[in-house]
Amino acid sequence: ELGFFFPREHTLAVIKPDALEEHREEILRRVREAGFAVTRAKETVLSREMAEEFYREHRDKPFFGQLVEFMSRGPCLLMALAKENAVEEWRAMMGPADPARAKEEAPDSLRARFAADVLRNAVHGSSSREHASAKIRFVFGDIQSDQGPELGREDRA
Ligand code: TYD
Repeated sequence: ELGFFFPREHTLAVIKPDALEEHREEILRRVREAGFAVTRAKETVLSREMAEEFYREHRDKPFFGQLVEFMSRGPCLLMALAKENAVEEWRAMMGPADPARAKEEAPDSLRARFAADVLRNAVHGSSSREHASAKIRFVFGDIQSDQGPELGREDRA
């Protein structure tokens, strides 16, 4: 198992509250069919404080308040996904943030199919490997203590 020595890339993916309620099974089926391994998963209602921290990069944006409110509205499913080139592949599978654009540019994407609008846009995915590592640590804690072969070197600090 080469993966033990050359661990697969991970990304942090989130199924947001509305989509989790309405489309959980279909989204998870697509995740599996695309060849992602779900190596960690946690279903939880984010507190406002957690949502603020999770989206801290956007704290100065005009939509920040709405975003935090939306993300803490109900349960999210937070997942560490593993696959070669996971960060980029999951971003491509999500499609652009605005579903109007997603329908034009990536009609098979998750957002083209499941997003209601740019705020309620079904899924999140880290935009870089650095962000992925930081968010996986934020959500799942320090993974060194109980890591299996799948959560590897590049995902630790
Ligand atoms: P962004 O980083 O632009 O997109 P992505 O989710 O693809 O990384 O935006 C982060 C989240 O902020 C986005 O998923 C939903 C929310 N958002 C709004 O509510 N309104 C907006 O106009 C934008 C651009 C984003």
